[in-house]
Amino acid sequence: MTSVDLFDSEVHPWLSSLQPYQTGKPIEETAREFGLDPSGIIKLASNENPLGPSPKAVAAMRDALEKCHLYPDGSGYYLRDAIARKHGLDIANVVLGNGSNEIIELLGHVMLGPGKNIVTAEHAFVVYKLMAQLQGAECIEVPDPDFRHDLRAMRQAITPQTRLVFVANPNNPTGTTVTPDELDELIMLAPSWVTIVVDEAYFEFLSNPPDLLKHIRYGRNVVVMRTFSKSQGLAGLRVGYGLMPSHIAAWLQRVRQPFNVNLIAQAGALACLQDEEHQLRTRQLVDSQRAAMEKSLQDMGVRTIPSEANFLLVHVGNGDAVFQKLLRKGIIVRAMSSYKLPEWIRVTIGTAEQNARFIAELRIALGK
Ligand SMILES: Cc1ncc(COP(=O)(O)O)c(C=O)c1O
Repeated sequence: MTSVDLFDSEVHPWLSSLQPYQTGKPIEETAREFGLDPSGIIKLASNENPLGPSPKAVAAMRDALEKCHLYPDGSGYYLRDAIARKHGLDIANVVLGNGSNEIIELLGHVMLGPGKNIVTAEHAFVVYKLMAQLQGAECIEVPDPDFRHDLRAMRQAITPQTRLVFVANPNNPTGTTVTPDELDELIMLAPSWVTIVVDEAYFEFLSNPPDLLKHIRYGRNVVVMRTFSKSQGLAGLRVGYGLMPSHIAAWLQRVRQPFNVNLIAQAGALACLQDEEHQLRTRQLVDSQRAAMEKSLQDMGVRTIPSEANFLLVHVGNGDAVFQKLLRKGIIVRAMSSYKLPEWIRVTIGTAEQNARFIAELRIALGK
């Protein structure tokens, strides 16, 4: 046996089929591959904020740079305190993550393992499934007719081994939502051994946002995840958070790395929280540009799924081929075969100019 074989034979068996998460293709890589000028490439692949970060966050991060020889505040006190105040919660209800993805992983560390499972929707954000697999747990995927999570069916799919139920609202990559009443029903009727995790990465774009914080104040086993990566325009910093009753938060605090959110990220996120004007401009841009893009696609005879997030799922026939064609023109979108949606691409809502370029090139790619 070679040392490679020996090593591989000792790895957790449930990792052998684990596929790494496919990220949006970076601008620099696309430029290198196709010999393009990076400044002419537009990335509409990862649901980032086309307006960039809040200027207030940038100023705070510049100041923080001077202190980066020091370790960050390991407890993230000021950021957690500001988040708690904003939501009318206690600091003990807030856990920071290196992106909200880390909150998913921390929940897995605490709750999952071989013999346990999670329940989620068939086309839900794929990281829930990956994190379950990482822990040797199963993932029960519940069909989602019309790409909407079916929360009653998800509740019925819960078994004695289920520990976490993941609901993304709005969901990525579909952009679809569930109603506040459906969420309340799931939370109130779920068995006592289950924690309901509601991923609100795109919360700021919702037209009818649910109030799930009441369940947290009541101490129910509910976790709400939010992020600074999307509407807040700080994806590169990797900072997100979970809101949850203190008895759950205490467990997540135990298992996280001591300095999981860096000093620059804490400073940027704190300043960003105070910049409501930037938030408003982002929301207005996404609302108006999403409607414009939906209209252009409809006029072209191209199907989309009604979305309440800053992206659209677009039916193009052969998603991989259209992704490649657009890439050669310097437009990065996302092919959806990893979501078992090979006929679709997902496109982030950009600025009016970016969206017009996308529509023009898509028209050519589809021969419309
Ligand atoms: C539904 C959903 N949840 C969570 C995340 C993770 O975001 P982050 O780790 O950047 O906070 C994403 C990112 O694409 C997402 O779409």
